[in-house]
Amino acid sequence: MNKVLIVYWSMTGNTEAMANALAEGCTEAGNEVTCVNVSESPSLDGYDAYLFGCSSMGDDALDEAEFNPWFTSIEADLKDKKVALFGSYGWGDGQWMRDWVIRTKEAGANLYQEGLIVNESPSDDDLATCKAYAKAFIA
Ligand SMILES: Cc1cc2nc3c(=O)[nH]c(=O)nc-3n(C[C@H](O)[C@H](O)[C@H](O)COP(=O)(O)O)c2cc1C
Repeated sequence: MNKVLIVYWSMTGNTEAMANALAEGCTEAGNEVTCVNVSESPSLDGYDAYLFGCSSMGDDALDEAEFNPWFTSIEADLKDKKVALFGSYGWGDGQWMRDWVIRTKEAGANLYQEGLIVNESPSDDDLATCKAYAKAFIA
């Protein structure tokens, strides 16, 4: 059993719905999951794996008010940590996730795949994909 931390930011609930489905996937795979909004300023201490979620905001960027300051504060601690990224986007083409993937790799994280993205509100199929993604990530 792994201890998994999921930290997300979500303006209208789309990335939050992904976070909840990812949490379900990890839990169904027999792991202990803590899923929190970034507003709780969680510490990375004491977990085996991490899923970070933030939607595309502003000019295809991470949320500047809450998520990016928190991510910047923990970035130096990501080296060799098992990490996956996720989030919802709207009219863009996913550039925010490509930038975030590069940044996370440069921080030295052991990044799983290239980030899981969903356009706007996740469909039932998207939520099933989230659950499967979590199970594969934590396997
Ligand atoms: C203020 C604002 C800025 C946004 N900027 C972008 C953007 O730059 N690129 C993009 O693809 N979508 C953008 N979107 C769309 C959101 O990423 C999209 O609606 C997403 O599903 C929101 O997810 P959330 O509810 O988890 O925050 C923006 C939405 C808002 C409200």
